[in-house]
Amino acid sequence: MYTMYRLLVLWLLCVVASSKAFREEFRFASYYGDHMVLQKAPEQSVLWGYGSDGAEVIVSLEGEQENRKHFVLVQNGIWRVALDPMKAGGPYNVTAVQQGKNITQVTLMDVLFGDVWLCGGQSNMLFTLSQVFNASEEQAMAPKFPHVRIFMAALELSTMELLDLPRVEVPWSIPSAELLGGPKFTHFSAVCWLFGRYLYKTLGYPVGLVESCWGGTPVEAWSSHRVLQKCGLENQNLRHPYLSLNETKRNNSVLWNAMIHPILNMTIKGAIWYQGEDNTAYHQDKYACSFPAMIDDWRMSFHEGSGGQTAPDFPFGFVQLCTREKNSTDDSFPNVRWHQTADYGFAPNPCMKRTFMAVALDLPDEGSPWGSIHPRNKQDVAYRLTLGARAVAYGEKGVSFQGPFPVKVLLSGDSINITYTESVSVTRSKTIFEICCTEVKNNCASSVGWVPAPIMHWGLSYIQVSVAQCQNIVSGVRYAWRDWPCDVKACPVYSSDRVLPAPPFIVNRWPEQGGQEGYKVNKARSLKDDTVRETWHSQC
Ligand SMILES: *[C@@H]1O[C@H](CO)[C@@H](O)[C@H](O)[C@H]1NC(C)=O
Ligand SMILES: *[C@@H]1O[C@H](CO)[C@@H](O)[C@H](O)[C@H]1NC(C)=O
Ligand SMILES: *[C@@H]1O[C@H](CO)[C@@H](O)[C@H](O)[C@H]1NC(C)=O
Ligand SMILES: *[C@@H]1O[C@H](CO)[C@@H](O)[C@H](O)[C@H]1NC(C)=O
Ligand SMILES: *[C@@H]1O[C@H](CO)[C@@H](O)[C@H](O)[C@H]1NC(C)=O
Ligand SMILES: *[C@@H]1O[C@H](CO)[C@@H](O)[C@H](O)[C@H]1NC(C)=O
Ligand SMILES: *[C@@H]1O[C@H](CO)[C@@H](O)[C@H](O)[C@H]1NC(C)=O
Ligand SMILES: *[C@@H]1O[C@H](CO)[C@@H](O)[C@H](O)[C@H]1NC(C)=O
Repeated sequence: MYTMYRLLVLWLLCVVASSKAFREEFRFASYYGDHMVLQKAPEQSVLWGYGSDGAEVIVSLEGEQENRKHFVLVQNGIWRVALDPMKAGGPYNVTAVQQGKNITQVTLMDVLFGDVWLCGGQSNMLFTLSQVFNASEEQAMAPKFPHVRIFMAALELSTMELLDLPRVEVPWSIPSAELLGGPKFTHFSAVCWLFGRYLYKTLGYPVGLVESCWGGTPVEAWSSHRVLQKCGLENQNLRHPYLSLNETKRNNSVLWNAMIHPILNMTIKGAIWYQGEDNTAYHQDKYACSFPAMIDDWRMSFHEGSGGQTAPDFPFGFVQLCTREKNSTDDSFPNVRWHQTADYGFAPNPCMKRTFMAVALDLPDEGSPWGSIHPRNKQDVAYRLTLGARAVAYGEKGVSFQGPFPVKVLLSGDSINITYTESVSVTRSKTIFEICCTEVKNNCASSVGWVPAPIMHWGLSYIQVSVAQCQNIVSGVRYAWRDWPCDVKACPVYSSDRVLPAPPFIVNRWPEQGGQEGYKVNKARSLKDDTVRETWHSQC
């Protein structure tokens, strides 16, 4: 039944995509090309393409390291091989030959082996290098990194899962100032490129960057039906507030179908993601479910699609939302920032294993020509992502990447003592910490009841805030819970070296479910203690 279905899908695709002759033409799939980077050992790189049914295909490598010849048969118009594990380096020529009366051959030239990273999300990922601060210097530097190679899928959508990319925006290329200097929101991503470039400096071997993203899109568009089903979003097609815009790309699964499903067969090392702005106004309350579920689903799908080569728990990095509007009292940005971490406040966490997060709320850009929702400082964003990748993806010891987070919140007398995971660098503020002040036990879910809790004292790794403004019960405490909490790199709490901002957090004494007493501010408990947090996270 499944096979029948698959055949039907293949047949439909074949009709949709092009003629039978095009399909039978002997070639690689759309995202294999000259100058590409294939995933290095220990994973095996997967290659596939099209051919004449029943014909034998021989795939071989020419270059520094030997690789045996691979023999496969074309089945249903498709052939596919997994190369032997290859150490990083190159260049190689990868040749596929189709046997038969009519022997045909295709060769990919100048192929490198290294780590392949996927870059996804919406407009802040699409944002090009020509739009960043110091754009011309950044562009001029591009050719100095010929071993960081780029590829970009074209913007396409589909109501069904596609086998191959319908179109390619940037074929595999050696970086140049021109390619990376594409006009705004086209060609290649600044965050993706800078991440790859910084990573290359620490790895010292080739990095392949595969960009597949689209501006103004919600997480639902990038998610399979499994994710939508899990989070109760399946029959919730498009009731989006921005009704006048072109809606199609926002529909459930349409970008998963056309821009992610086709590349599942490629072996990758990991992924980075910059998205969430769209969901501040669309199923915001579901994001703590949908985002972690999408990560898990991508992991499972890439693992299966590559025949087990891509790790089932591949590292996944993401950018926590930056800012939208100065002085705004709307709490949708703080809420989504929190939901991006499955409501833990930090990553990785028990619901989001092997993830890493770049905090960006201290990088606002009031003067951005593309609106303050598109800040021009992408260098720090990418750098912070790289720190996470080094620690989480590459297991490098001693790399800080998270920023200070509370481990203990203790209410005593007229103050709250917040103890952090690490030593902190503090600037005095009267308003950045807030407490929720209520007459009855209250989960403080709304923004009503929050009053400032001025910083009184601080030590190496603690901050004491005043609760003097509260005559009633202190029900919660939160930090930087605002759309635009501070000026550029001027938030009140950083790591001691001032590189990493403290992520925002919220602690409620009486969590939502049934008024049950869960976490208590006045009993010293670790925020990272899963048993305590279980009241908030009955399931991931
Ligand atoms: C790949 O093929 C080209 C053209 O035949 C040749 O110039 C080049 O040396 C080959 N590269 C390797 C690594 O064999
Ligand atoms: C052999 O294959 C090539 C390339 O696919 C094609 O152009 C040509 O027409 C084929 N020749 C025959 C005899 O089938
Ligand atoms: C909406 O987007 C689709 C896909 O890119 C495009 O084909 C269509 O022309 C767009 N429609 C409008 C009204 O912009
Ligand atoms: C969104 O998808 C649903 C179900 O597939 C479809 O009925 C609807 O027409 C789509 N809406 C748009 C704007 O594409
Ligand atoms: C790629 O992976 C997907 C998902 O597992 C699968 O449906 C598809 O058949 C695979 N394609 C090829 C060419 O192996
Ligand atoms: C934000 O508030 C500050 C202080 O109240 C004021 O000086 C500034 O003009 C406001 N900025 C905007 C963009 O509203
Ligand atoms: C831009 O360049 C200046 C001068 O080199 C530097 O101080 C600044 O940090 C750069 N900005 C970014 C965002 O990298
Ligand atoms: C706050 O807690 C830390 C330990 O977590 C302790 O060393 C410090 O003395 C406390 N500060 C105050 C003012 O109670």
